[in-house]
Amino acid sequence: MNLNLTHRNALVCGSTQGIGKASAIQLAELGANITLVARNEEKLKNVIKELTTDQGQSHDYIVVDFQNPDSLKQNISAVNKTFHILINNTGGPAGGPVFNASIEEFESAFTQHLKCNHILVQTVVPRMKIEGYGRIINIISTSVKQPLNGLGVSNTIRGAVANWSKTLANELGAFGITVNNVLPGATATERLTEIIVNKTAKTGKSIEEISSTMKNEIPSKRFAKPEEIANAVAFLASEAASYINGINLPVDGGRTKSL
Ligand SMILES: NC(=O)c1ccc[n+]([C@@H]2O[C@H](COP(=O)([O-])OP(=O)(O)OC[C@H]3O[C@@H](n4cnc5c(N)ncnc54)[C@H](OP(=O)(O)O)[C@@H]3O)[C@@H](O)[C@H]2O)c1
Repeated sequence: MNLNLTHRNALVCGSTQGIGKASAIQLAELGANITLVARNEEKLKNVIKELTTDQGQSHDYIVVDFQNPDSLKQNISAVNKTFHILINNTGGPAGGPVFNASIEEFESAFTQHLKCNHILVQTVVPRMKIEGYGRIINIISTSVKQPLNGLGVSNTIRGAVANWSKTLANELGAFGITVNNVLPGATATERLTEIIVNKTAKTGKSIEEISSTMKNEIPSKRFAKPEEIANAVAFLASEAASYINGINLPVDGGRTKSL
């Protein structure tokens, strides 16, 4: 099975922590050159130091805020590089019931998730077509299959991104480009800590009680490590996954109740 990513360039978004960072580390382990993307330059510099260069890889970063799509467009075009792999990933929308959500919250999530993904795809795909190799992997959520209580805006925007992605898979498959979604379950990152802390505020229960209830709902009875999500990302990015296109891949320890 060919998992080798030597001479492949990967643009990995939301990569200063959590799932994005773990994905960057794993793709670099397989030989890829990584371009990290996020807002915090200090953290970006620190992650670069963690990426292996054992096989002669070279890594760099772009500082950008996905709340500002115009700036993303300028920054990403200025890089003028061929990317074979694009990992679309960023911070999740704030929680709360969908009924209480403001129009601004929906617009903000649409900008950060859908508009920015689209700008990135429009920038990298022309060169993926020339290379005859492209892997577009969107980190979404299992809420694509089963909406999660208390994540109203997130549930809504995830559906939009998943359908955008499936449509792209239809359009780009003939060029050797695959477009797939990884749907993480509860994964031990700062995002999950934030969700648990919000639940403690709403319910008066302790962090331990909330965590234990959440874990009990998962057949594997534990949260995922970010590396476990990154392993799925890395496989989909490789030559080995060449005939997997247009799918939702839950990596959730079996939590999602549907197939
Ligand atoms: N963890 C889970 O349990 C879980 C489950 C299902 C789905 N997900 C989803 O998977 C994705 C990644 O999750 P995670 O847990 O790894 O999240 P995380 O720990 O919050 O990390 C988010 C990453 O995105 C970057 N980011 C946030 N806002 C940004 C912005 N406006 N512009 C550019 N970069 C931005 C952050 O870096 P900077 O702060 O440096 O910009 C960080 O590197 C999210 O969409 C999340 O909702 C997570």
